[in-house]
This record gives sequence, C-alpha cells and structure tokens, in this order.
Amino acid sequence: DGPGGTGKSTVSRVVAHKAGLPHLDTGAYYRAATLAVVEAGSDPHDAEKVVDIVAGKRFAQESGHMYLNGQDVSEAIREEKVTAAVSAVSAHPSVRRLLVAEQRAWIERHAGNGVVEGRDIGSVVFPDADLKIYLDASAEERARRRARETGEDYDAVLADLNRRDRFDSTRVASPLVIPDGAVVIDTSELTFDEVVQRLLGLIRAMT
Ligand code: DC
Repeated sequence: DGPGGTGKSTVSRVVAHKAGLPHLDTGAYYRAATLAVVEAGSDPHDAEKVVDIVAGKRFAQESGHMYLNGQDVSEAIREEKVTAAVSAVSAHPSVRRLLVAEQRAWIERHAGNGVVEGRDIGSVVFPDADLKIYLDASAEERARRRARETGEDYDAVLADLNRRDRFDSTRVASPLVIPDGAVVIDTSELTFDEVVQRLLGLIRAMT
C-alpha cells in the first residue's frame, strides 16, 4: 500500500518476480472500471450509472495484463482521461465491493499467495495478510520522480499528486491509511535496489 509516486508499482513487480510470487495490481481494476465509464460517456460521479456499468463487466488480470470483457486494456487504462476520472470512480462503495471481491478471488485462484499492490490491501482487502508494507515518500520526491518518468511539468505533477492524495485519503469508502501492523518504509532517501532488498529481507524473515 501507499500513495502514488512512491515506486510501489515497479518495486512490487520486481519483488514478486524475485520472490517467485504472482503479482496483483489492484489499481488496474479501478482503472479498467473507469475506462468502461469513460467509454460509456457517463459522469464518473454518478454512483448509480457507474455501478450499473461496472457490475455488467468482466474483469481479469493475468501475467501483468488487464482484461475488460476479455479485451486487453493494459495500455488504454494508462491514458490521461482514465487517470483524471479514476479517483471519482474508485470512491463509490459499491464499485469497491465488486472489485475487492474480484481481487480476493484472484488470490484464491493463486492458492492464497501473491504480492498485492494497492491502497487498501492491508486495511480492507487482506487484513490478515502475512506481511503488510506501506511505502511512503515526500510529495516533492514523488512529484520529481513522476515528472522525470512522464516528462510532465513538475509543478503541475505536484499539484495533481496533492489533489489525488487529498481525495484518496479523505474519501469515506476505504480511504488510504497506514494499515494496522504495516511496516512503513519511506523511500525518499533510498535507491530502488535498497527498497527491493529491504522488502525481500522482510519476506525472507517470514518464512
Ligand atoms: O495505482 P494506480 O495509480 O494505478 O491507481 C489508480 C487509482 O485507483 C488511484 O487513484 C486510487 C485507486 N485505487 C484504489 O482506490 N484502491 C486500490 N486498491 C488501488 C487503486
């Protein structure tokens, strides 16, 4: 778990690979649901319409690819129009209920094992997880990383990050919190490899 721009996505993929565990990107479910809403031309704030659209769709994730109704949407879900609407769609409690059920089913299909990346994994989806990690970093550092990655303007990225953080941590349904019992790692002053090694050490210490 952790806010955007902490390196959560890349770190969790590399850790999963090195630990020989499957990886689940839960943000991709919220993004796929948002893509469906955007494609339907619906208002992402309209709870009733949004739930109607999302409830009628099939979601799947395999080998790092996200599927919506059987179609590979891995690239489409990264588009700006999806990113702009995803906070609104993921704030609806009924959307979260549907997608959390999908995520739990995914882990069951993988014999209860996996590295699961998201914002409410230790608090809501898997409160009994063997190991909970919360990656954090200062807003400035997160904005610097994202700006470097996407080539966008630093000030615009920082403003957008602050807006999304505020929205994600103050929403009523499953706000972003540090889960009980989570190990908090501030990645601001650490290299990518240091973060990966620290996580692998924690996994090794468990077994
Ligand atoms: O990690 P990401 O940027 O792909 O996530 C997209 C959005 O989905 C993010 O703004 C918040 C939401 N999300 C969520 O509410 N709960 C999760 N477990 C994962 C993502």
